[in-house]
Amino acid sequence: MRKVKIAPSILSANFARLGEEVKLIEAGGADYIHIDVMDGHFVPNITIGPQVVKFLSKETTVPLDVHLMINNPDFFLDDFVAAGSNLLSVHVEASTHLHRTIQKIKSYPNVKAGVALNPATALTNLINILNEIDFVLIMTVNPGFGGQEFITQMLNKIRFLKGLIKDGNLPVEIEVDGGINIDNAKKVFDAGADTLVAGSSIFSKSDPKKAIVDLRNAVNA
Ligand code: DX5
Ligand code: ZN
Repeated sequence: MRKVKIAPSILSANFARLGEEVKLIEAGGADYIHIDVMDGHFVPNITIGPQVVKFLSKETTVPLDVHLMINNPDFFLDDFVAAGSNLLSVHVEASTHLHRTIQKIKSYPNVKAGVALNPATALTNLINILNEIDFVLIMTVNPGFGGQEFITQMLNKIRFLKGLIKDGNLPVEIEVDGGINIDNAKKVFDAGADTLVAGSSIFSKSDPKKAIVDLRNAVNA
């Protein structure tokens, strides 16, 4: 049986006490910690850089899933890997030489390479790279902010991608990011997602630890 992975996004956490928030989600059984890196150019928001990732890597043993929403990601790959990233995803829309960028990520030992797609970006962009990557990150909101509404139309995109991966018998996982909560988590998983990212639906709750358990139970219901 497929088992869902939950990746709480710290974008919605209290940045003044990130270490404690990470401990909470670790106790809740998080499979990855999703870290949203935004540069104010590729997306209309600014968040954190490698320095914060470095300190977080010292606080937890949960793998760090770093989602780069930045232009020219190649310039920063070395820094994010040195900081302790375990999974790195770059946006197809922000990478002029995506194949080269993916080769670079794969050259680091024990780092998984992912490609992220905005909601309006077609899956055809993946055809020549799908056999090179470890995972696809399907955005189900437009990147930049937490707390947005899940774009239901993306369920078909997830199903279609799952079909492509199955047909090609490829070892590629699907991560889905944006607007995931206990009401839609099962639908997203059944459509083909392996990993669910969730920010506001975990950190807006008084008990984020329980919110992770509830999300997992919603999928297994
Ligand atoms: C959006 C980020 C997401 C965000 C998800 O640009 O990539 O990871 O934190 O937050 P929610 O779950 O609140 O949509
Ligand atoms: Zn993200």
